[in-house]
Amino acid sequence: MHGSKSARVLVPGPLHEKALQRIDQNFAMVRQEAWRGQLLPADIAASIRGICAIIPINADMMDAFPNLEIIAHFGVGYDSVDVGHAASRGIMVTHTPGVLTEDVADIAIGLLINAVRELPRAERWLRDGQWASQGAYPLTKRTLQGRRAGIFGMGRVGLAVAQRLKAFGISIAYHNRNRVEGVDYSFYPTLIGLAEAVDTLISVAPSTAATARVIDAKVFDALGPNGIFINIGRGKTVDQNDLIKALQNGVIAAAGLDVFAEEPNLPQALLDLPTATLLPHVGSATENSRQAMADLCVDNLLSWFAEGRAVTAVPETAHIKAAAARPSGEPH
Ligand code: DGY
Repeated sequence: MHGSKSARVLVPGPLHEKALQRIDQNFAMVRQEAWRGQLLPADIAASIRGICAIIPINADMMDAFPNLEIIAHFGVGYDSVDVGHAASRGIMVTHTPGVLTEDVADIAIGLLINAVRELPRAERWLRDGQWASQGAYPLTKRTLQGRRAGIFGMGRVGLAVAQRLKAFGISIAYHNRNRVEGVDYSFYPTLIGLAEAVDTLISVAPSTAATARVIDAKVFDALGPNGIFINIGRGKTVDQNDLIKALQNGVIAAAGLDVFAEEPNLPQALLDLPTATLLPHVGSATENSRQAMADLCVDNLLSWFAEGRAVTAVPETAHIKAAAARPSGEPH
């Protein structure tokens, strides 16, 4: 499929090199690497029909482009794009599901093993010379054996995490907005009910108005002192202060986190906690996943401008049709 050199696509902020190359080959690319929300000349702004970006896109930014048709977001989580506003203006929003699932699920397992078996601390013991000077690293209080995992968010990534946990012999339950058809893990209609039933809570939940800070002190109390909390979804689903207190006071045993409330800034209290294993949001950060995400972003733009439909629309805008594909007079 070829693009249309007449379609202007804005690329604000950093973007994967492969995506930049393909956008440049197929469209009239307007590159704004150091994007600070600046205004573009009115004639350029009016000619922008697509945006491809990893940076947040709010309503004001969308409204700076009166003829914007599509936002191709680089990433599966799209909480940084105001999809409600996009839908109200008939702007298509796409994301990159599927291609990063396995890499992200692997990170949940890595964090879980790190948290339970204390691998980062054991490695530090070796590197700091304590193995030689003091002997073996102390036995860990906890094991993966016999753990009961609860997955919050049973989408593609949640299912891939469950598949991996199954191979470890860990029991699996889940909480999701709705029971997932065809999935026979135990379903809990509430998050607190799930936390009460398990000792290992793995959150894969997206950031939405309904999930904002729902993982709070009550959930950590329910998880209990043998509890492990893993988060590979979004940091804004957690009350981060409650989590810090729960770890400081032994309300739960340990946490493994790839996502945080205000990335890339973490409170010192979290950094100071030896029972927290922390990663800099690397879930999809392999060359393989990022290249596939770059391809899917651009495939969405190509499909939209050539055929009038997106490949991977977000559910909120899936109903929107390209102007060229609408019978005249039909609304988006
Ligand atoms: C995403 O794409 O939303 C992931 O969080 C990236 O790791």
